Amino acid sequence: MPGIAVIGAQWGDEGKGKVVDALASTADVVVRFSGGANAGHTVVVGDQVFKLHHLPVSTLHDGPTSILGGGMVIDPWTLRDELEGLRARRDPGEIWISSDAHVVLPHHKKNDEGGGFVGTTGRGIGPAYSDKARRLGVRFGDLLDDDALRLVLGRLIAGKPNSTANVGWRSVDDVFATLEEIRAYVRPMVRDTGALVRAALGRGQRVLFEGGQGTMLDLAYGTYPFVTSSHPTVGGILVGAGVSHKALHGVYGVVKAFSSRVGHGPFPTELSGAEAERLRGTGSNQWDEFGTTTGRPRRVGWLDLTQVRYACDINGFDGLVVTKLDVLSGLDEVLVCVDHAGDRPIYERMRGWGALEGLGSRDALPKAVLEYLSLIEEATGVRVAMFSTSPDRDDTYGSVDWGA
Ligand code: IMP
Repeated sequence: MPGIAVIGAQWGDEGKGKVVDALASTADVVVRFSGGANAGHTVVVGDQVFKLHHLPVSTLHDGPTSILGGGMVIDPWTLRDELEGLRARRDPGEIWISSDAHVVLPHHKKNDEGGGFVGTTGRGIGPAYSDKARRLGVRFGDLLDDDALRLVLGRLIAGKPNSTANVGWRSVDDVFATLEEIRAYVRPMVRDTGALVRAALGRGQRVLFEGGQGTMLDLAYGTYPFVTSSHPTVGGILVGAGVSHKALHGVYGVVKAFSSRVGHGPFPTELSGAEAERLRGTGSNQWDEFGTTTGRPRRVGWLDLTQVRYACDINGFDGLVVTKLDVLSGLDEVLVCVDHAGDRPIYERMRGWGALEGLGSRDALPKAVLEYLSLIEEATGVRVAMFSTSPDRDDTYGSVDWGA
C-alpha cells in the first residue's frame, strides 16, 4: 500500500517539517500519529515562516487531507489558536481529529509546569498520556456525547480529586461548563480517522505518516527516563494511526547533519562554548537551534553515527534524509562520531565544505559533502534518499518511493 513515513532519527528537531513539506504536495492524506503540542515544525515558504505544533505540515498545501491521529494528545484550546492563526493566513484544507486521540486538559498542563527532571516542554504531554494509561483520560470521541462525557469526567474527578481541584474542577458540572465552548469548536472535526486512513490506503491513495519528536525520545527505546511519553518510532505509527504494517511501503529517517537535543539526558557528542554557538546560531533566524515550542537554546554536538545506526535498526529505515548540511558550511573540519570507547566518542575527522547554494542535484555537491554522505551510508547501511541544503522549500533534493 502506498504509505510512507517520515521519522526523526535523533532527538527531534531534525528538520522533519521541511521534509514532510517537500513530500506533502504529492500525498493525498497526511497523518500525525503521536505526541502533541510538544512538537514544533518550522516551515519556510518564500518570505513566510509557519510554526506548527499540532497540525500536520499538509495544512500548508492545497489538496491533502490532514489528520490528527489517535495516538496523539491534543490540547483543544491551543489547537484552536493554531488553526485560527493559520486560517487568517491561508486555507488549511480538510482536517480531521481522531475520536481516539486524548484531550490535554488544564490539570495536565498544571502538573507539567517547570518541566521536572526531564526538562519537558511543559505542554501537559506526560500527564495526559499517564491519565490515558490509568484509564482516566478523556478522548475526543467522549466530547461528542453529553452522557458519555459526564461518565468519563465523573471517573476522572473521583480518580484524581486533588489534581482536578487544583484547577478549580470539583464537580462534573464545573468541568462541563469549562468545556462547553471548545467542544462545540472541535465537534465537527472529530471522526474515526483510522477507518478513513485505511479506506484511503485501500483505494490506493498516498498516505504520509508524519513523525514528531525523534527516535531517542521514544518512551520505550529512547534514553529513558529522558524521553517523551509516546512512541515516535515506527511502532508508534500502527497504534497511533490505526493501520497495519501493510500500510508502510517505505520508512524514511530524517538525520540532521549534526546532533541536537533539548531537555536533559545523555548526549555524548555534545559541544560547548564557541563551537556550540557556531552550530546553534544566535537565534536571530527562525531555523537557528532554539526550540520551536519553548524557545530554549538547544544543546548541540557532532553527528553520532552509532546513535543513527541504532535508529536505523529500530525503525528499519528504507532511506535517510540528511538536513541542515549548510549549517556546517565554512568549517575547516567536521567531526563525526563513529564509535565509542566507554563514554568517550571516537571521531573521524572530515574535510569541511563551503557554501551550498543552488545545487540542483546530488552530483553537484562538493566532494567533501559527498564523502560525508557516503560515510553516513557506509556506517548505517542505509542509502541517503534525500538531502536539504537550506531552510527554503526549494532546496530539498532527491525523492522517496511511494510504491504507487
Ligand atoms: P515532553 O514531550 O514535553 O514530555 O518532554 C520530554 C522530553 O522530550 C524533553 O526532553 C523535551 O525537550 C523533549 N521533546 C519533546 N518534544 C520534542 C520535540 O518536538 N523536539 C525536541 N525535543 C522534544
